[in-house]
Amino acid sequence: MKKAFYILFGIVGVTLCGPTVATNIAAGASVAQSCVMCHGDKGISTMAGTPSLAGQSDLYLANQLRDFRDGKRHNEVMNVIAKPLSDAEIDNVSAYFAQFEIQLKKKGK
Ligand code: HEC
Repeated sequence: MKKAFYILFGIVGVTLCGPTVATNIAAGASVAQSCVMCHGDKGISTMAGTPSLAGQSDLYLANQLRDFRDGKRHNEVMNVIAKPLSDAEIDNVSAYFAQFEIQLKKKGK
């Protein structure tokens, strides 16, 4: 019984960790070259109407990109940009932008 639990736990563990382990930040950096002109260096946006990507969760970014690609989220620009991206490219570029840590401080302080 105990053994069965560990085997089951092992399978669930590997399944949950799988996508994260498979991401490649270096490959994501090369995809990101086509994003930074709008989303800013390291994903810190200075362009009005364009959100920062740095420090957002990789899961959130990947979900948004899939929604743009699959037409579930509508934006003229991002629908075109996300269209050719593979699942691996989406996971990698999301991991790239998610690796940056954001620190908050109040304006003028
Ligand atoms: C030509 C400018 C432009 C380029 C290039 C661009 N984006 Fe965007 N992106 C935008 C704009 C504008 C939005 C806001 C869309 C909206 O209002 O729904 C956006 C939104 C997003 C969002 C949703 C963010 C959120 O907070 O919900 C993600 C994720 C994203 N872009 C990823 C990327 C990635 C990855 C690339 C490169 C492969 C890229 N973008 C290239 C303009 C751009």
